[in-house]
Amino acid sequence: MLPAETAPGSAVELSAPDILLWGALPYIMVVVLVGGLVWRYKYDQFGWTTRSSQLYESKLLRIASPLFHFGLLAVIAGHFFGLVIPKAWTEAVGMSQEFYHFNALLVGGIAGVGTLGGILLLIYRRRTTGPVFMATTKNDKTMYVVLTAAIVFGLWTTLASVFEGEQGHNYRDTVAPWFRSLFVFQPDITAMAAAPFSFHLHTLVGMALFVIWPFTRLVHAFTAPLHYLFRPYIVYRSRDRDRGGSAGAAAARTSRTAARRGWSAVGTRDRDTRNR
Ligand code: HEM
Repeated sequence: MLPAETAPGSAVELSAPDILLWGALPYIMVVVLVGGLVWRYKYDQFGWTTRSSQLYESKLLRIASPLFHFGLLAVIAGHFFGLVIPKAWTEAVGMSQEFYHFNALLVGGIAGVGTLGGILLLIYRRRTTGPVFMATTKNDKTMYVVLTAAIVFGLWTTLASVFEGEQGHNYRDTVAPWFRSLFVFQPDITAMAAAPFSFHLHTLVGMALFVIWPFTRLVHAFTAPLHYLFRPYIVYRSRDRDRGGSAGAAAARTSRTAARRGWSAVGTRDRDTRNR
């Protein structure tokens, strides 16, 4: 690894670990993540679930879950601004580095602390509520360790910047250009290698989380039950949508009066394809 003071982009010889960690590993991670998700979706659709434990306990969950999830959404937004938007762009619109940094620390710090508080509360609930603990598998425990570590090490990088002040490392000169360079398949390994250890650790744990993601409960993050917003309030099935029967007649009546949203009959995939 390179010392933290090494100027990013300067001509330096890269070590084999640097090439492996910042040049190859990100792509291996993406292959496992995408391949794993496709595999899981194909072969384990019934297991594609949060395995919700709300039935066992909901009082703590009602606080911990939104705290964690909304905190994480803010953290994701922060990562987007910090890693995807180049420093030159924010400077071009007149945003000074100091102003950007102050806001990143304030908003990022609050979001990070909220996310950490949320996950700790979720873990506490899992450990102390009997049935929830009983429903916790080894897979879940491994996932919680890696997820919590990613959050803790991320917060470490942010809090270190607060304490180091002016001397603090500016990741927008190292981690961010490296992150963007990955998308054009020209990884700027030198830039990333110049970042301090805390950023290396956080990024590695982050990548580890993405590698295990498809094989854990975290898959639920990729599916939102959007159809829930548009489904009828009362779900009923007509025996036949087009012919006779009281349910069929009701459905026909509904369609004649241009059914109000939420009161239309629902089809089933098997019947709809049979009738076609
Ligand atoms: C693998 C790719 C990742 C990279 C390159 C990355 C990079 C960074 C950087 C540069 C910061 C410092 C932000 C600042 O100080 O303003 C940070 C903070 C943070 N990261 Fe990540 N991160 C990654 C993945 C993750 C993951 C998977 C999680 C959690 C699920 C996570 C959670 C956090 C948290 C909680 C903070 C501190 C709060 C904040 O500033 O938003 N990161 N990350």
